[in-house]
Amino acid sequence: MVRIRVAGSETMTDLVRDTAGRPLRNLRVSVTDRCNLRCSYCMPEEDYVWLPKERLLHYGQLTAIVAAAVDLGVRKVRLTGGEPLLRRELWRFVEQLRALSGLQEIAMTTNGLLMAEQAEQLFGAGLDRVTISMDTLHADRFRTATRRDGLSATLEGIQAAATHGSAPVKLNMVVQRGVNDDEVLDLLHFAREGGHELRYIEYMDVDGATRWDPTQVVSRQEILERIQERHGPAVPVDKVGAAPADRFRLDDGTVFGVISSTTQPFCGTCDRARLTADGRLFTCLYATEGLPLGPGVVQGWSTERLSQEIRQRWARRIDRGAEERLALGSERSPTSVPELRADPHLEMHTKGG
Ligand code: GTP
Ligand code: 5AD
Ligand code: SF4
Repeated sequence: MVRIRVAGSETMTDLVRDTAGRPLRNLRVSVTDRCNLRCSYCMPEEDYVWLPKERLLHYGQLTAIVAAAVDLGVRKVRLTGGEPLLRRELWRFVEQLRALSGLQEIAMTTNGLLMAEQAEQLFGAGLDRVTISMDTLHADRFRTATRRDGLSATLEGIQAAATHGSAPVKLNMVVQRGVNDDEVLDLLHFAREGGHELRYIEYMDVDGATRWDPTQVVSRQEILERIQERHGPAVPVDKVGAAPADRFRLDDGTVFGVISSTTQPFCGTCDRARLTADGRLFTCLYATEGLPLGPGVVQGWSTERLSQEIRQRWARRIDRGAEERLALGSERSPTSVPELRADPHLEMHTKGG
């Protein structure tokens, strides 16, 4: 056991570190692999192979795995999907997680379509904050890019999250050249007016992004240039912990983030594991092998047993997925559709976007 001092002079206990000395602090829990949108950067195919319904873990079973991870140092859980709000009565899961002492934050990444009807219950149950995908302000473009209607529902969802939550809503914009890159400044304006924090995300070649094309990536550098051309200097804001976003402040006080997983990966500080809805634990977004905890939890394994399994896996962790992809350059070979259909766990929407 290693005792370390962290910012703010709080003493924290690290129970496990990987081969590169990275602690386990964040767990992203994908509560369902289903989604009610088909964003071109994530789910561009016509049809998908889903996780078998009977393999999905109940909230109590997922909570048992989270509790074991909390015992190893996890302080923040982020609920993702697919689309997490499609899972029935998600607030009940939030309530169970809230009861775990040691867990400091419960966040969620959602497309926001169903947020308006669930926000009050979710925040009431203990959800701390949400991030909502927001790629365009044009209804027709939204329809083309997601193959569903939904801009007005998303906007209502953002409003509801801002009303019921106490933390500012974060908005995620995946910037794709020729698709929505002409809205970089418009979305900044929209976020500022609403009191939200916009984060620009470089288009990533994650498994499932089967139409990824390097010419569509708009780099962090280009995003910053476009903003600074209009608004003047964007000054870096001190980074807290191992969050993927680098934050910047403009002269007028507007703060925004850039997540540059594609051109400047941040694997060196990555403290994240991901859990799928059927209980498979992945130690990297790009990992192809996960630790199947589902059968154990169904058999009633104790928290100690689950912690032991997770600890062993994390201690062997060598992942640097995004850095390896970058190093491959033009040699990158995306996972093919037949491979993804043979193992849907590889998909970003299963592993947690
Ligand atoms: P906060 O910092 O708490 O706001 O969370 P977050 O930025 O981790 O959450 P969010 O779900 O909004 O993630 C934003 C984007 O960052 C994702 O959609 C990915 O594009 C990218 N991202 C998240 N996790 C990882 C990761 O583990 N590895 C890499 N390379 N990129 C990630
Ligand atoms: N590139 C970048 N971000 C992606 N997401 C999904 N697929 C990709 C991709 N190919 C992210 C988006 C969305 C979240 C659910 O997943 O940020 O907000
Ligand atoms: Fe972490 Fe893997 Fe993402 Fe790198 S690619 S930041 S190691 S999850």
